[in-house]
Amino acid sequence: MRAAITSISHYVPPDILDNQFFESNLDTSDQWIRSRTGIVERRIARTGGTSDLIIPAAQQCLNKRGIAASEVDCILVATVTPDYVFPSTASLVQAGIAARNAWGFDLSAACCGFIVALIVATRFVESGAAQRVLVCGADKMTSIANYQDRTSAVLFGDGAGVALVEQSDDESVGIIDHLAHMDGRHAKELYMPAGGSVRPASLETVNNRQHYLVQDGSTVFKAASKDIVDITQELLERNGMSTDDIRWFVPHQANRRIIDAVGERLGLDSERVMCNIQRYGNTSSATIPLCLSEWMEKGALHRGDNVVLSSFGAGFTSASLYMRWAIAPDLPAEETEDSLIYAEAAD
Ligand code: UT7
Repeated sequence: MRAAITSISHYVPPDILDNQFFESNLDTSDQWIRSRTGIVERRIARTGGTSDLIIPAAQQCLNKRGIAASEVDCILVATVTPDYVFPSTASLVQAGIAARNAWGFDLSAACCGFIVALIVATRFVESGAAQRVLVCGADKMTSIANYQDRTSAVLFGDGAGVALVEQSDDESVGIIDHLAHMDGRHAKELYMPAGGSVRPASLETVNNRQHYLVQDGSTVFKAASKDIVDITQELLERNGMSTDDIRWFVPHQANRRIIDAVGERLGLDSERVMCNIQRYGNTSSATIPLCLSEWMEKGALHRGDNVVLSSFGAGFTSASLYMRWAIAPDLPAEETEDSLIYAEAAD
């Protein structure tokens, strides 16, 4: 039995933070940010939490598929910016969309979160442990970006992407293989120093601004550029594929220069590499589903396309997933025979 993404949607908050905002508040420039990161603007959620980004995307994802929230049996939320330390953001999403028959949990794998959650969902669906899993990659990165630090504040934005994973009716499409690696020796090269059990929130941690993301930017840059290439090549090799076989490569969107360097080292022309970092910045676990959903909306992703997702993030972690795309763009899912049956059942 093969699992497949059968619907995908995204949501970004309407408010835009452009580079001029940072020019006015920090020792930086639009020119520096564009040339060193590729970012022109990013979105900011002025109120609410990560669940408020997920809920509209999840509702739209289910509408596109034509199924009711009560038919979802599991919700996975990949995030490093949960609404609260507990309960899980998954439980808030469950209540928000009224998925009364779903259980679920949050998963912390930073920028690899969406791929790692897809791997978990795939295993649940393949084993029959779940039928319909909502995989949510979402982060409100502006809540942990240090607006006094020009080396990281300019990079991040807010957003959510939600995919529905179900059993594929056709073995020729769906999620085929995946890989994930971790090297915890680098844990403190990209992390948030306080707010966890080592340094619970105190006057001191607040005064020392330790509740924000801290990173060694150039170490992260070098490791990301190398590890994304390595894990992608490993995945391709074990599937007897070369980069020529990839229709769409979907890298994590952290820096335009990382995306370009990875594409070049893999020998991929830029037309096959999804990139929207200029509009959203780094939304952590949302970057990959944001790309997939946008490319789907513009009709550029077709059923049967070979799609490879690859990411790198805090941990350090890297993850890659190979699938043959299962959704047909020209035939909205809600009009297919299958989903009409689901819609009737939900009524
Ligand atoms: O999802 C994973 C999350 N993190 C990342 O992906 C981060 C990956 N790293 C990066 O994207 C890049 O390393 C940065 C964008 C963070 C930095 O770019 P860089 O080209 O590697 O710059 P750098 O760290 O080598 O710094 C060069 C100079 C420094 O000034 P000095 O010391 O040479 O005077 C920085 O202070 O650029 C300075 N700089 C800036 N200048 C203007 C760093 N940030 C800025 C800025 N505006 N926003």
